[in-house]
Amino acid sequence: MATINVIDYLSFEGEEGKKLVHVLEDNGVDILHRCGGKAKCTSCRVEVIEGDFGPISEQEQQTLANKGHNGDNIRLSCQVRVSGDATVKAVMTKTNSNLEPGPRPEE
Ligand code: FES
Repeated sequence: MATINVIDYLSFEGEEGKKLVHVLEDNGVDILHRCGGKAKCTSCRVEVIEGDFGPISEQEQQTLANKGHNGDNIRLSCQVRVSGDATVKAVMTKTNSNLEPGPRPEE
């Protein structure tokens, strides 16, 4: 298990190997995932304050760049898996956007 700290939310234990978006949502973070985890919408993006989610895929990088989210510390939570302790900020939530989260991404 890894400790995931979420800015403005709680800290909790996240199962290693599980998608970050699921760990966040299953622990009460109302993060958006409007495209259902297809790496298209970027609404699930997080700012990584501490920790490492491994190499970024070409698709993830391309989608972030296409939407103007450049920077090494922005990742799509539907595309990364928990692999150790981390501190993140969920950029778009139901609370701060008033949008519906979207379909739950596949496991
Ligand atoms: S990019 Fe749409 S849910 Fe992750």
